[in-house]
Amino acid sequence: MTLADAPLPPPVDAPGRAGIPYQDLIRPLQVHGSLYTDPAIFADELAKIWYRTWVYVGHVSEIAEPNDYVRKNIGPQDVVMTRDAAGEVHLLLNRCAHRGNLVCEADSGNSSSFRCPYHGWTYRNTGEMVGYPLVQGYGGKKQFSLGLGRVPRVAVYQGFVFGSFAEEGPTLREHLGEAAGEIDRLVRLSPEGEIEISAGWLKHRARANWKLLAENETDGYHPQFVHSSIFSVAQSGIGALYGDKSTAVTRALGNGHSENDLRPEFRRIGTPLGWFGTTEARMPDYSAKMRSLHGDAAEEILIDGGPHVMIFPNLFIAEIQMFAIQPLAANLTVQHVTAVQFKGAPDMNRRMLQQCVGSVGPAGLLLADDTEMYERNQAGVAELRPEWLDVRRGAHREYVDERGLTVGGATDETGMRGFWAHYKQLMTEGRAS
Ligand code: FES
Repeated sequence: MTLADAPLPPPVDAPGRAGIPYQDLIRPLQVHGSLYTDPAIFADELAKIWYRTWVYVGHVSEIAEPNDYVRKNIGPQDVVMTRDAAGEVHLLLNRCAHRGNLVCEADSGNSSSFRCPYHGWTYRNTGEMVGYPLVQGYGGKKQFSLGLGRVPRVAVYQGFVFGSFAEEGPTLREHLGEAAGEIDRLVRLSPEGEIEISAGWLKHRARANWKLLAENETDGYHPQFVHSSIFSVAQSGIGALYGDKSTAVTRALGNGHSENDLRPEFRRIGTPLGWFGTTEARMPDYSAKMRSLHGDAAEEILIDGGPHVMIFPNLFIAEIQMFAIQPLAANLTVQHVTAVQFKGAPDMNRRMLQQCVGSVGPAGLLLADDTEMYERNQAGVAELRPEWLDVRRGAHREYVDERGLTVGGATDETGMRGFWAHYKQLMTEGRAS
């Protein structure tokens, strides 16, 4: 057996492997409650989305040195992201080819190989077998060579590592489409053109379906209600960005991606670093580096700030924070959260870390509010009536912009409708992305 024969998730039969009539459950302006609660639908999503399309896994800065590794996930799959001695990135499944034990125990480290604790089979950090003890039991040395399972396609965009269990299909760049530009916007805020994921990850468990989280990320309708406490405590103007008078927009970026584009408001206000709640005078080192690097263009970059984008199905970038959504069951999801760090910007990084802890840390006010809503939503959709959830907000005032993308108001459900259109396509047509 070779590595290529290593076990992978089962193939997808399309459409409707479980006989689920998605075309009837997803209407243009409504979605059925069973989509959030039915274990059969969750199993079908694993096959047709999580084990098929491109999923965000990690960032190259988390395995900066040769032989670094870090444990990640694709849905319930335990994935080890490694960098081999030559610098290549691999995504390996954490399962011994002998009797299925977990091979990698530590959350992260540096090693060229992994030794299974059960019977000592050992694998390189590229997945190939190194060897096994007591070789006579197998008829002598090198009688066979089993390897760790691999995520067959691995691709990197601006340091963001994605994996796809589909052997073939759209490229990562095709999957990202218009969302790639939002990642570019984030990276552009670094004075050295690179971000680093070095602040550590927090894990928040929510007794809720993963789609409630994904939908909420660019729901501009909820902030002024759910987050009013943090906005008032922090004397933040963010709430006003998501009001009826806001010039910000919600945009469906295609392929299920969406954004809250807050730039119109930040440009109207016109304060560099205003998006971050500060001024250039309070961030002199960072501002000087950015102005030196970008010249006249720095003004607009510093006014525009970072993206607020949900990249289907699991990566959410909220200006200074990154979230990775991990579905574990129809009613259980883990949200992994970290502060973005800009290479070469220690003053900015300190403040980003502080803000991240205050908003999404264990005692933070922002994500606790959201998680309360996720769990209340999950409890609510389990009720029998009414059967449908409504996603019509702003449909009457949407328009198509010069890029051919659908745009709604700051509080409209344009992003959700884009999410569901792509979801329906994946679940009924079995497309890879
Ligand atoms: Fe890993 Fe036996 S299960 S060596």
